[in-house]
Amino acid sequence: VALLSECPLGDLLAQAGTPTPAYVYDLDALSLAGRLLESSFGGARHLAAYAMKANSAGSILKRLLAEGLGVDVVSGAELELALAAGAPPERIVMSGVAKADWELDLALSRGIKAVHAESVEELERLEARARAASRSARVALRVNPGVEIDSHAHVATGHDAAKFGVHRDDLAAAFARIDASPTLEAVGLSAHVGSMLSKPEPYVASARRLCDQARARLAAGGRLEYIDFGGGFGIDYGGGAPAAPGAFVESALALLAEVGLSHLELVIEPGRSLVGSFGVLVASVIQSKVSGPRRWLLIDAGMNDLIRPALYGAKHRIEPLDRAPAGTTYRVAGPICESTDDFGEHEMADAVPSHVVIRDAGAYGFVMASEYNGRPLPAEIFVSGGRVVSVSASPGREAWIRRRLEA
Ligand code: LLP
Repeated sequence: VALLSECPLGDLLAQAGTPTPAYVYDLDALSLAGRLLESSFGGARHLAAYAMKANSAGSILKRLLAEGLGVDVVSGAELELALAAGAPPERIVMSGVAKADWELDLALSRGIKAVHAESVEELERLEARARAASRSARVALRVNPGVEIDSHAHVATGHDAAKFGVHRDDLAAAFARIDASPTLEAVGLSAHVGSMLSKPEPYVASARRLCDQARARLAAGGRLEYIDFGGGFGIDYGGGAPAAPGAFVESALALLAEVGLSHLELVIEPGRSLVGSFGVLVASVIQSKVSGPRRWLLIDAGMNDLIRPALYGAKHRIEPLDRAPAGTTYRVAGPICESTDDFGEHEMADAVPSHVVIRDAGAYGFVMASEYNGRPLPAEIFVSGGRVVSVSASPGREAWIRRRLEA
């Protein structure tokens, strides 16, 4: 599962024939991650719904679908893309705190597994759209579990001040609203506590609260097909390996057994853990610059290509493409006119390298890229069996210039 150690990235770049910055993904490695995750369920009834927001490339979706995963979508466009990539509608769930009417309509017309409603207000809209289309709507409630996690504030979603989910205190009323409707059908209960969890404990803490809610509903004679504990499994960005996704699944299954809910289908929504480690961003070095106490390495990839350092203070390992012995510390920064366009300090070879590799960029990399400062979206290169199998070229600067001129 080691893209960097097994494939000569320089050769792959030459094969692809695309200029930098370019993302390079190892499709075989992420297939294997999908397969391992699927095997961790044993015989338990489940749906591992890949949170495709992490990386929506078609070849990645197809690989994970082939391993038996479903998809968690958060927009109408993601839903259409998932279906076009071959996802069976009954293996798709739709999350999102503010789904537009057309997105609800699309979900209803395609017959997906469930819409995950995040408020009582949304239930009213969903019912109206379903009634207008003379359809019934399969709905799950996303609960805000009220659990604090030890993650960056920007990726913690399950605490009381978050915009996500139905507040715990409103859950019974929300279910009552569904049960009173001839159009809405309650099929699931979900939660997502946040991202970058390094161990199963907070996941299980949230899941336990969700189980309490599920048991209360079942005890009151309500219906429920599945329970969805969300995603959030961390990956190793260089600070140590978090628990593997399978360990989260095992804890979840053990919890369901402990509380007598093993008859429910277990749904999870992993994103990062399936793709994050299996993509890198390759950049060219523009030049070095010595300024006061600092030795800068200025590269052609910036926060427009990978925003995680700027947005979350994330540190991605960076190394020279040719991996010469380290010796000099450089502060690596991109070309964007913002101080936050800064990838931090990294050990490099004494000689200024021609290219660098930014590691663990497979999740929330390309999908969060922008064209800020007139920098077109980066290329994406897909590798399997040690060679390039497809390339998605950058739209290029001409396209950007044309569009902005016409704006
Ligand atoms: N389910 C829901 C409802 C979510 O909101 C998310 C992520 C996931 C599943 C998948 O979480 P994962 O397994 O990937 O941690 N851009 C940030 C991460 C934002 C996560 C948003 N929601 C980053 O680069 O760290």
